[in-house]
Amino acid sequence: MHKVLVVDDDKVLQQSVKQALEYHHFVVDVADNGKEAVTKVYGQKYDLVVMDVNMPEMDGIQALTEIKKHDPSVIVLILTAYSNVTDAVKAVKEGAYNYLEKPISSENLVALIKRALKARSMVETLTFSSPTLSLGEGSSKDKFVGESNAMKKVFDVISKLAKVTTPVLIRGESGTGKELVAKAIHYNSPRKDEKFVTINCGAISENLIESELFGHEKGAFTGADQRKIGKFQFAEGGTIFLDEIGDISAAMQVKLLRVLQEKTFMPVGSNREIKVDVRIIAASHKPFEEMIKDGSFREDLFYRLNVLPVYLPPLRERKTDIPHLVNHYINYFNNVHNLKVIGAEPDALEVLTNYSWPGNIRELRNIIEHCFIMESSDMIHAQSLPAVVFKDQKKAEAKDPVTTDSVIDIADIQNSVLDNPTQKTTGTNEVQFSFGTKVGEGGKLDFALAKDLFEKEFIVQALKLNRGRINQTALNANIPKKTLLRKIEKYEINPKDYY
Ligand SMILES: Nc1ncnc2c1ncn2[C@@H]1O[C@H](COP(=O)(O)OP(=O)(O)OP(=O)(O)O)[C@@H](O)[C@H]1O
Ligand SMILES: [Mg+2]
Repeated sequence: MHKVLVVDDDKVLQQSVKQALEYHHFVVDVADNGKEAVTKVYGQKYDLVVMDVNMPEMDGIQALTEIKKHDPSVIVLILTAYSNVTDAVKAVKEGAYNYLEKPISSENLVALIKRALKARSMVETLTFSSPTLSLGEGSSKDKFVGESNAMKKVFDVISKLAKVTTPVLIRGESGTGKELVAKAIHYNSPRKDEKFVTINCGAISENLIESELFGHEKGAFTGADQRKIGKFQFAEGGTIFLDEIGDISAAMQVKLLRVLQEKTFMPVGSNREIKVDVRIIAASHKPFEEMIKDGSFREDLFYRLNVLPVYLPPLRERKTDIPHLVNHYINYFNNVHNLKVIGAEPDALEVLTNYSWPGNIRELRNIIEHCFIMESSDMIHAQSLPAVVFKDQKKAEAKDPVTTDSVIDIADIQNSVLDNPTQKTTGTNEVQFSFGTKVGEGGKLDFALAKDLFEKEFIVQALKLNRGRINQTALNANIPKKTLLRKIEKYEINPKDYY
């Protein structure tokens, strides 16, 4: 069943479209404005959105842009009461499927929706490929998320690596998904029905790792009271994942090199050579080039492993993936905790996007889980984020020309205040500025408060001038939309008051 979101501030129209669609067996959800629509699309998957243009909070064109950024596959049909060529052109440019003038009969609308969905399914069958990578049994809930160009390249490499049996070395910071890549290669390869065996080389003591990997004969060492097969033999026909390979000793490096070259090994305490057919995938976050230079990692082993390298970029270098990962984990924890969190507020998403993510995706997952515990509403607000994610905000804001003083130039405020005849000095050492509020008492001026008051008044005036339209106000007042929305929230301004 197809899921449709109907977005219109006119409740009567919204409900009549909803009913017509439900009559034709669509699952229908509604939103009263663009902002609510964007939030809903961030929270769940829709096949199609039918949306009005002129709406308070966020208009249909702006919402369309946001929706398409998040989910390029969703079909958006724009409906409007006026025939407005500029809007129509903009809508189509932003990715709208079609632009329809109201009134439109429900039969025509339903027919158009069916046509659009059919056209999409035809396109999908032609272009369907990665990133839907299988991650093996028991991990059907695991999904590879990545819309950034960097991740698309990784998906492409994975599908190529899945077709061959050459060793693979996966590199990347902690938590970037190295293990997930290893699984994806195995479960998309012809070996997918054989075993995928993981061994964490960094977690096993030096004297046990050899027997873990290659097995031992009975009596090979104290405590070896039975013969035991190692992971290599256990993985026969499948794939072995040598995690944290940068941590193995010089002696083990030699033994691994032999397996890679000869495909044979000897169990501990045995002089019997065993031949194996196992694909080797290794991973590490270690700087191999430096380790080769200082002699702690063998160059020949590195080159044997590094025939087909995969590099996973840190999350801070693929920020466009952040909103997708946030959504992915919201869905995931909704299932785990049986909750219905819809999405993250734009403010919260902005904070998350500005954060540098030293622990990468694992850290993002932990932070979303933290929010599930802290948040009591159905949206994740900036207030429920842990303190750590705010530490990079100042740096990010300093890069944002608007939050520095380029739009609201404090020198201009000071000059206008000085030139303004309505500014009064009261004989009591207090200063009153043109916007009428005391920002200085007892001769002490409060710069931050003055700036806030000015900003608020400026935004209110700009909204009035532009009849509460966010897009128009942002353009007219030369404020990036995102900043405008943030300020509107900060000063608790309701754009509807000026609509
Ligand atoms: N692209 C992705 N999409 C969805 N989830 C991901 C993605 N990449 C990683 N994850 C998830 O992030 C977590 C960390 O991934 P993984 O264990 O593969 O990282 P790693 O690089 O092996 O980390 P470490 O170096 O610390 O072992 C896992 O829960 C994994 O499922
Ligand atoms: Mg790992």
